[in-house]
Amino acid sequence: MRILGIESSCDETACAVVEDGRKILSNVVNSQIEEHKIYGGVVPEIASRMHTEAIGAVCREALDKAGLTLDDIDALAVTYAPGLIGALLVGVNFAKSLGFAANKPLIPVHHIRGHIAANYLSFPQLAPPFICLVVSGGHTNIVEVLSYTDFKILARTRDDAAGEAFDKVARSLGFPYPGGIYIDKAAKLGREDAFRLPHPKVEGSPYDFSFSGLKTFVLNTVNHAKQKGQELNANDLAASFQKTVCDMLVSRLMQLTAQKGYRDVVVAGGVSANSGLREKLQSETKRLSLNLYIPPLSLCGDNAAMIASQGYYEYLAGNLADLSLNGCSSLPIEQSYICAQC
Ligand code: KG4
Ligand code: ZN
Repeated sequence: MRILGIESSCDETACAVVEDGRKILSNVVNSQIEEHKIYGGVVPEIASRMHTEAIGAVCREALDKAGLTLDDIDALAVTYAPGLIGALLVGVNFAKSLGFAANKPLIPVHHIRGHIAANYLSFPQLAPPFICLVVSGGHTNIVEVLSYTDFKILARTRDDAAGEAFDKVARSLGFPYPGGIYIDKAAKLGREDAFRLPHPKVEGSPYDFSFSGLKTFVLNTVNHAKQKGQELNANDLAASFQKTVCDMLVSRLMQLTAQKGYRDVVVAGGVSANSGLREKLQSETKRLSLNLYIPPLSLCGDNAAMIASQGYYEYLAGNLADLSLNGCSSLPIEQSYICAQC
């Protein structure tokens, strides 16, 4: 079964063709980052307009690169939640129009379920159940993936997502948006024990995360140094911050993995590109003889191949939409789409 995936939840307009949920036939990502960089973050109105301008050509390119026409496509999968509402609506309405015109089934896909599915494209043998750390710009969760379409959140962030904390710390150090990758690069040149940073805990919820206190501590450290006219070693601060975040993520993931008795540990989302996180996960899972799955860098960030992959499993589970499909800015991963007509 060939599925055309469509993704426009934030600042990437993406279309891809995937066969049977596992094989990428094409994967086109049109990034808007250069436009948003000058504002230091994503401007929702600009994102929506740029998706509208790009989506037709991106879709055509995805079909061309796969060597297919719309007639060869069996269904359309589109990100409908969560994300920037104006941005989501561009993909949703494009998919609805295309589905109506070409008479193809329409599959609504949750963006974070898609990030997890990036691993199905990378590891043919991987199948649920497994435990998954989801670390993106908007989400930080430890999720039990019970089946392809059945999820249970075991831990969540109570405030900022990990990616958000990376981006805000990067901004305070003068790096461009999105700053996660610049912190990653700077950290390689710094000493991770140079700064003693807090490891915030959530009272009564030992596995939940809190990054805002850590972020504020780093921002205050930068501001105090500026006020006093002191030179601050950005590489050292980046390395210390990255180590603190990675320690928090990996230690809780390992504790929950042991508690639930999983052997397969999966990681998903943009922050899974972080080299410090990848190294720590590799060493810890090796020490504990666990199997680690992290997508290649090309599939860590937003793309539509992951949406088409998850779309395949949503289709098999009967999770289809009709033309009443709407975008939804926030939606728990546990909740499957409920069609208004069903
Ligand atoms: O999953 P994603 O592409 O978009 C969302 O769904 O949010 O994640 C984007 C986030 C940004 O915060 C970005 O700074 C972060 O992923 N990121 C990184 C790295 N590459 C991307 N964070 C740390 N280290 C990286 N190498
Ligand atoms: Zn994402």
